[in-house]
Amino acid sequence: MPAVVVIGGQWGDEGKGRIVDLIAQGASVVARYSAGNNAGHTVINDLGEFKLNVVPAGIFYPDKTCLVGNGVAVDPAILLNEIEQLASRGISVAHLFVSDRCHVIMPWHPAIDIADEKLRGAAAIGTTGRGVGPCFTDKVARIGIRVGDLIDPAAFRARLEFVLPYKNAVMQQLYGLPPLDFDDVYRQYSEYGVRLAPFVRDTAQIVHEALDRGETVLLEGAQGCLLDLDAGTYEYVTASVPSSSAGGAGIGIGIGPTVIQQVVGIYKAYVTRVGNGPMPSELLDETGMILRLEGPRPEIGTTTGRPRRTGWFDAVASRYSAMVNGVTSGVLTRLDVLDNFPAIKICIAYETEDGRTLTTLPASSVVMGKVRPVYEEVDGWRAPTSKCRTWDELPQGARDYIRRIESLIKIPIDIVSVGPERDQAIIVHDVLKVRPRT
Ligand code: GDP
Ligand code: IMO
Ligand code: MG
Repeated sequence: MPAVVVIGGQWGDEGKGRIVDLIAQGASVVARYSAGNNAGHTVINDLGEFKLNVVPAGIFYPDKTCLVGNGVAVDPAILLNEIEQLASRGISVAHLFVSDRCHVIMPWHPAIDIADEKLRGAAAIGTTGRGVGPCFTDKVARIGIRVGDLIDPAAFRARLEFVLPYKNAVMQQLYGLPPLDFDDVYRQYSEYGVRLAPFVRDTAQIVHEALDRGETVLLEGAQGCLLDLDAGTYEYVTASVPSSSAGGAGIGIGIGPTVIQQVVGIYKAYVTRVGNGPMPSELLDETGMILRLEGPRPEIGTTTGRPRRTGWFDAVASRYSAMVNGVTSGVLTRLDVLDNFPAIKICIAYETEDGRTLTTLPASSVVMGKVRPVYEEVDGWRAPTSKCRTWDELPQGARDYIRRIESLIKIPIDIVSVGPERDQAIIVHDVLKVRPRT
């Protein structure tokens, strides 16, 4: 059986957690493979409402193995708290394992993240301030500390003795921040190491054993393609290595690209973005406000509580993300939010300042920040969809809207989500069943 990747097709928060919770029943392993606790994945099911930052959204199935793969940056305090919170609500974490190769978010990382944003001034990215970017920067600079180090007192001491003076010099001399005390950091993070140790495993080995048994492995992405370090609207992107795109999934869990047979792209029925950077179809008017507040779960950031920027569905950006991720199955979420609109717009192209029409994504975020959206308008369906459970129950206008999106982004929509709860979905095709690209 295959490995299946789930990615965000826009600027994050498309409903990846909600969809992984829905489809995980068909897998035996669910793994996060990139990013860190900048991600916030909401799951609402019979067990309650949960906001997951690091733990995969398969955790609610006691028979699924859940993995935090080597590509994830782990803030031990956040992960341990998340584990405790889940356990206190009766969710078993006995089947949760963390890779010994994960890089650790150390206390200097959030401090540098926040200080860096201040230094950037008007060019601030609007990061989540969780230290994820600086942690991956240190990974690439080969001065990171990994979970395997953290749980080995001698290795941790040796590594911290090497890294901390370096980071303290950077903090003091570049950012004017106070240095961190070696003994304090060593003591606190050694304690985290002791608490984390029972969860630590060679997670790649676990994945390969499952694949060898013929089981399905679900790889849960974070963020969205337009926030990706390579594919996204650079420099207003996140900084994960490996990236959260489908191409990063193999690296972040330790499997080869040939094992991945299916890529599920999650798209909102409109678009949102948190933080700064271009978003051509953004609506700064009353309509944007309605998109933000309509429906059962308003558009407020899961991790930082910031209001999300909103806009009409961007077919240029969404087609691009389907293309560069090799998406085989599309999922459209939050369709119910559009239920009351008399007319709905779709951004089908961008017009540049000098009058050129673009149907592909410009590389430059300066160019992208100046384009005007070219819209196609369709009639709204003005009927509730949140109780629909089959394709035929959807209002004709909603079906037409979905078909139009399919033809614009060139992938089939296999699941339509009409509400935040597990059963509020229309499954047109089983996304875990391999569907070759047409
Ligand atoms: P993720 O980061 O991609 O997992 O998405 P988030 O959890 O950050 O944001 C998605 C939000 O939309 C959450 O509040 C979900 O509960 C909610 N949600 C997911 N699917 C639907 C849907 O079909 N309709 C509505 N109204 N809300 C949804
Ligand atoms: P999920 O997995 C939405 C955004 C931040 C900021 C940029 C860089 O829940 O979809 P960072 O802290 O990563 O250096 O911030 O990326 N961002 C997200 N936006 N959803 C996310 O994750 C995000 N993770 C990072 O808002 O614009
Ligand atoms: Mg989110």
